[in-house]
Amino acid sequence: MRLRMGRVLSVASECVPLLKTGGLADVVGALPGALAGQGWEMRVLMPAYRSLRAQAAGWDEMWFEPDLFGGPGRVFAGTVAGISVLLLDAPHLYDREGGPYSGPHGDWHDNDIRFAALSWAGAAIARDGLSDGWRPDVLHAHDWQAGFAPAYLAYSGADVPSVMTIHNIAFQGFTPVSQLYALRLPPEQYYPDALEYFGGLSSLKAGLITAHKITTVSPTYAGELGRPVFGMGLQGVIAARAADVSGILNGVDTDVWSPEAAEHPFSANAPEGKAQARAALCAEFDLDVPGPLAIVVSRLTDQKGIDLIPPVMEKFISEGGGLAILGSGDPALEAQMHQLAARFPGRVSVRIGYDEALSHRMFAGGDAVLVPSRFEPCGLTQMYGLHFGTLPVVAAVGGLADTVITANPAALAAGVATGITFHPTDAAAFGLALQNLIALHADTKIWSQMMHNAMHHPVGWDNSAARYAALYDGLIA
Ligand code: ADP
Ligand code: GLC
Repeated sequence: MRLRMGRVLSVASECVPLLKTGGLADVVGALPGALAGQGWEMRVLMPAYRSLRAQAAGWDEMWFEPDLFGGPGRVFAGTVAGISVLLLDAPHLYDREGGPYSGPHGDWHDNDIRFAALSWAGAAIARDGLSDGWRPDVLHAHDWQAGFAPAYLAYSGADVPSVMTIHNIAFQGFTPVSQLYALRLPPEQYYPDALEYFGGLSSLKAGLITAHKITTVSPTYAGELGRPVFGMGLQGVIAARAADVSGILNGVDTDVWSPEAAEHPFSANAPEGKAQARAALCAEFDLDVPGPLAIVVSRLTDQKGIDLIPPVMEKFISEGGGLAILGSGDPALEAQMHQLAARFPGRVSVRIGYDEALSHRMFAGGDAVLVPSRFEPCGLTQMYGLHFGTLPVVAAVGGLADTVITANPAALAAGVATGITFHPTDAAAFGLALQNLIALHADTKIWSQMMHNAMHHPVGWDNSAARYAALYDGLIA
């Protein structure tokens, strides 16, 4: 038994409720609370983007470096929604108009340096501690933005163990080798089994080769990453480290995503409120749908298979289905969604944008949530769907395959089905899945059994938090 709680420094570019562009932020924001019950105290280090600088005013300064890649860097410590947050204030890097990664004219040209600075501060804190004496036992880096943190730590000779978590291997932090010195990387480490990556550098690869342990956000994705189509160039690196790679499924915050707390509250044992939520959603989206009302809440990108929706809609609509879409992203996909709504008025309706409150109303009121991803490290929306009895129709990849029990004859006979999975990710398989959705929805007995199963499926953090804690425990044993 340890005398004090273990300490872990989480390094990431996003964290709910401070800043979110995707599921990474949800996970980074949920881990501290989930781990506290497991004997681990987590602090989250992230950049003080312009929108967060006011937040740090009045907080204690706990770390300073006069030249953090071209200007001063300061870390301010405070608490937000119960999370111990460390904001890295470096105005020359983060005090800019726009999002965390891009401004009005696209991605910031110096993103390699911006997130190397975050990683540098993370490694320095892990090595030397903060001015209040807090020093982590473990450094935990998330995605390419924090990839250099385990590397800086390792190259400085510090013996602090580190974990690198892959939330999405498609983003690799690639930058030209000419940046080697600017990024404060040791030139003798530039060779194929170390920092070199297709003639350049990748912050994610740097993290993968130097961290003590590697995790990703579902067991299936952990296995998929060793294959070229999913590893996306890093499959060899993953394979070489197979003994240190594990998949730990994300959870969702069931206090935030709670049907009991919805505008029209309902639960597995008292599902009546869901009908009211559905009616309200139809009114809000101007829809009149006799069959299953499907929803999509997603970044509109190639990863998410959004382009597969238009080809399957005509049949789905003709059989009584309807669709409400909330998302933003690729302008071409946004245009396709608008065209779809124009083609099927009263049956398909779209909101382009980002709207957290609306997404809650959609999960509450929908009958099914569609997630036709080409790859999906974990995915959170199918888990919200389960929890709200909004049955997931998902491609059988990554975390989608790990969380949904498909309604095949065996699962139906055993009474355990929670949704529909399909494979491969193409319009033919997706279309058949939607036909299956129509049929299952029409059978009220089966449908209510599936809703019941889905709403009882454990989607919280308990199991996964225990697995992270066990991983950390192993590193400091
Ligand atoms: P990814 O991180 O790849 O985008 P996830 O499923 O892990 O996919 O997480 C996406 C998160 O972002 C979920 O919390 C989802 O509800 C939310 N989200 C995505 N698009 C929107 C949107 N347009 N409005 C509100 N929430 C959104
Ligand atoms: C990434 C993945 C998504 C995952 C999220 C949180 O954004 O695309 O599948 O759920 O990270 O780990």
